[in-house]
Amino acid sequence: MKTITLIKGDGIGPEITDAVMKVINAAGVAIDWDIQSAGAGVIETEGSPLPERVIESVKKNKIALKSPVTTPIGKGFRSVNVQLRKELDLYANLRPCYNLPNVKTRYDKVDIVVVRENTEDLYAGIEHQVDENTAESIKRITRPASERIAKFAFDYAINNNRKEVCVVTKANICKLSDGLFLESARRIASLYPQIKFREILVDNCCMQLVQNPNQFDVLLLPNLYGDIVSDLCAGLIGGLGIAQGANIGTNYAVFEPVHGSAPDIAGEDKANPTAMLMSAIEMLKHIGEFEAANNIKLALFETLNANIMTADLGGKAKCSEFTQAIIDRLFVLSTK
Ligand code: NAI
Repeated sequence: MKTITLIKGDGIGPEITDAVMKVINAAGVAIDWDIQSAGAGVIETEGSPLPERVIESVKKNKIALKSPVTTPIGKGFRSVNVQLRKELDLYANLRPCYNLPNVKTRYDKVDIVVVRENTEDLYAGIEHQVDENTAESIKRITRPASERIAKFAFDYAINNNRKEVCVVTKANICKLSDGLFLESARRIASLYPQIKFREILVDNCCMQLVQNPNQFDVLLLPNLYGDIVSDLCAGLIGGLGIAQGANIGTNYAVFEPVHGSAPDIAGEDKANPTAMLMSAIEMLKHIGEFEAANNIKLALFETLNANIMTADLGGKAKCSEFTQAIIDRLFVLSTK
């Protein structure tokens, strides 16, 4: 039996985690979950939102499924997410974004993969107070990290039959930092002549995404733009409730939805578990459980096609009802 670290998080985290565990169980995949709590809830007892045991667990098991963790704005501890990605060197944040069946959106046939650099940029957390009225953050970009993520994007394109990689920067303004990211992407692109290479400025990219998202294939971005643009892309396909993600490094992989802990709906059985479930489907593929991954996806799509949806998608189903509907369809699929 495979052991996988499960980071339960807070806010809607526990609800969507329970939903996903039930679905995976119903799909017949036996996983020994190494459950690790992290975030605000463990600071008092363990002195840190990301105790060493969580990192050690992922290092031991190599793979984790993670639900969202709250990061207080402007004060308190450093983001668990940023810390985890940095400590495990999960340098690639992969966020595939495509229309799901029967989910009404402004656009059809969106199929974009956001590849976000995950370890540096403004997220390096190098900030200081200059004086009472001035604060500075360092935007750190290095050639090795930029070339590594560019290589990841091009390899992903090749392995997934994609045609184009488009690098997104603000190199006209941040000439040195974004300039280096762009220059690195150009160098790597020259090694992949079979993949089209395109360059765009981030402001124009946002406008083009809203106007005509179908023109984009794989987007390659530094950390901050990647964070913002991937939420924009989630909005194109129906919102954060369905946007999946994965953090991939050389040795470890942590699968997690794009969204946060949604404190506004926590504990109300309203959360959409789809984003977490789609992330888990990718995790199952990663460990070779292709049949279960496929069955879960089919059951999820059948549920959506039957118009059973949570409130964020305009439906009436509670998180628990939606989950049960998927499980019911899984049982039918497995007896076919
Ligand atoms: P959020 O993603 O938690 O919520 C934004 C909006 O989307 C809210 O209206 C929420 O109800 C809705 N939403 C999100 N996920 C949903 C789901 N599965 N089903 C239905 N509706 C959903 O973003 P927000 O409010 O900016 O952040 C809340 C907290 O989460 C913050 O502390 C933030 O730092 C943290 N966060 C954690 C992340 C992680 O653990 N990977 C990622 C992003 C934010």
